[in-house]
Amino acid sequence: MTLKQALGHARRFLAENNIEDSLLESEILLRHTLKISRVQLYLDRDRELSPKQEKGLRHLIKRRLSGEPTAYITGHREFYGLDFYVNHHVLIPRPESELLVEQALKLAQNDNLSTIADIGTGCGAIAISLALNLPQLRIYATDISTPALEVARLNCQKHGVADRICLLEGDMLTPLPEPVDLIVANLPYVREAELAKVNSAGFESSLALNGGRDGLAKIRRLCQQVRGKTGITTYLILEIGQGQAAAVTSLLRRLFPDGKIEVMPDLGGVERVVSLQLEKNTRLLLNYSLGLVSVSRAID
Ligand SMILES: C[S@@+](CC[C@H](N)C(=O)[O-])C[C@H]1O[C@@H](n2cnc3c(N)ncnc32)[C@H](O)[C@@H]1O
Repeated sequence: MTLKQALGHARRFLAENNIEDSLLESEILLRHTLKISRVQLYLDRDRELSPKQEKGLRHLIKRRLSGEPTAYITGHREFYGLDFYVNHHVLIPRPESELLVEQALKLAQNDNLSTIADIGTGCGAIAISLALNLPQLRIYATDISTPALEVARLNCQKHGVADRICLLEGDMLTPLPEPVDLIVANLPYVREAELAKVNSAGFESSLALNGGRDGLAKIRRLCQQVRGKTGITTYLILEIGQGQAAAVTSLLRRLFPDGKIEVMPDLGGVERVVSLQLEKNTRLLLNYSLGLVSVSRAID
């Protein structure tokens, strides 16, 4: 079988089994089997696959048809123009989350910020995209999951930012050793009742998706922690799910009556990012310098 025929077969199998973007997905699986670039795939389209390669491709198609996302099969996902290593311990970064990066970049550049914390960093895609675009910034990236932080560590090394991103294990803000200028967070926000629909084949970690009964359990707790640590940050930027903007903005209004709140839609028109601006506050800086705030374990 030639590469062209293999691509045709793979595409048909995927399309017949209702996999969207069947051409793109079959290209990725074939290229992953052969370890070749997209250009090579089309230049060598009359080349014959070896029996071992045919078997390898069939195996990958079977995995894909079982519902395993392509990114977990290949171990890669592109985000903000960068290639990230992913496995089933981390959420596959979504294109919508690029809006969080855009918004954080805009604020960091306009307001000359110097420290950022990415809470619930997963594979590190948001923190690393920020680090590469803001070379003067110091970045903390936290997650409660040890294996997720291992993936983030590999990605920090791959992108040459391991010395600029401090990976910290722990719950929400607990591991932060100092106040930061901006907190960015894409925490789990899927409603429990919808988990099965979003993660039908069960490949993505529930820790990365489950936002409790109304989807807002983690977001609410982060906002409450920010409220409880006066001066911990000046900006808080949150990714939210469809239909959650009203609840999140009213929560923020209640917790931070003087805060400036903005809601931004993603490219699909869904209200996706909520940003909160607070007054700069020096009180907590003093608390930190007096050692009143505990520091959790850092992962190097
Ligand atoms: C929706 S995923 C987002 C991952 C990554 N930020 C991204 O956008 O691709 C949420 C992440 O939050 C982490 N997480 C869940 N609960 C947490 C908590 N209480 N404190 C810190 N991180 C948490 C999960 O382990 C997961 O990596």
